[in-house]
Amino acid sequence: MNTFYKFYQLIINWYHIHGRKKLPWQIKKTPYKIWLSEIMLQQTQVKTVIPYFNAFIKKFPDFNSLKKASMNEICFLWSGLGYYARAKNLYKTTKIISEKYKNKFPDNFFELIQLPGIGKSTAGAILSLAFGYYYPILDGNVKRIITRYYAINIKINEKKTESKLWKIINNITPIHNTGKFNQAMMDLGSLICTRIKPKCHICPLNINCISLSNKNCEDYPKKNSYKNILKKTFYFLILQYNHFIFLKKRPSYGIWANLFSFPEFYKEINAQSWINEKNIKKSKKQIINPFYHYFTHLKLHIIPIHITVTLSQKKNIHHNYAIWYNLINPQLIGLSSPVKKIITILKKYEVK
Ligand code: ADE
Repeated sequence: MNTFYKFYQLIINWYHIHGRKKLPWQIKKTPYKIWLSEIMLQQTQVKTVIPYFNAFIKKFPDFNSLKKASMNEICFLWSGLGYYARAKNLYKTTKIISEKYKNKFPDNFFELIQLPGIGKSTAGAILSLAFGYYYPILDGNVKRIITRYYAINIKINEKKTESKLWKIINNITPIHNTGKFNQAMMDLGSLICTRIKPKCHICPLNINCISLSNKNCEDYPKKNSYKNILKKTFYFLILQYNHFIFLKKRPSYGIWANLFSFPEFYKEINAQSWINEKNIKKSKKQIINPFYHYFTHLKLHIIPIHITVTLSQKKNIHHNYAIWYNLINPQLIGLSSPVKKIITILKKYEVK
């Protein structure tokens, strides 16, 4: 007998057996925890988020504790998680909720999408997971499942694709058990319908998936070509005096907004003239090799230049928004992941 199962039935059945139900933000669930986790999970995998979420909740267990936090404290806990605009948005949202909503997290779609960093999909996730309301979601995982299942050939980043996918997901999301369905779609996307090597043999949707029957799942979602991905080079000057390194606070816009980083130059010649001007010299042994750091649309070639300075040279190097960071007894400040990576290497040398 060939029984016809609806899309959502297959998904919810799968959820009951395989879905994730014990993630840290699902335990003693509150709108605050769901909001925080959904912001952290934007463009970031569950396994990466878990330790950051736990550290965050330890320090700020509820909304009332977070509303007293400074931007620096939030940035510190966000260090290494990436997409730092999220930390800034979290801070701004906290202010709005405490002033406009009297500390009560909004449970209404139109109020939620006005908050910084909350788009339609994140609002849907918060409303369905935290409040149990009917709201569909359309994050990267869901887009991958839908484009594969229906073999949608239009490119993923185009506006018309977005509205077509919203129409489909609005139609297939069930009115009851929406939270379970949404969670299951995200779990299926990250555990089974993965970007590469999807595990179609154990996928609950494998009976009707068009791209599977065409044997070309990995061709979906159709992407715009990234041949034109931007490439940039940053020369990082690592100025070190004993166990202190010089870090400058970045502006509140652009990449790594508000985080501390090394003085940077786009051209070697500019880095060199800065070095000459300060009368300092590159260290003979360069302990940190150049490496690449990737953003969604940018490939950054980071070339660290290590310089050991004397005490009198150190006194000559200052800036309004800079600190001499203590490698042994570190200040609690926000650091980008390439800076964290460099600091880890410097610390290893320091203890030797
Ligand atoms: N990605 C975004 N939100 C998620 C969630 N609640 N669970 C798993 N992955 C997610």
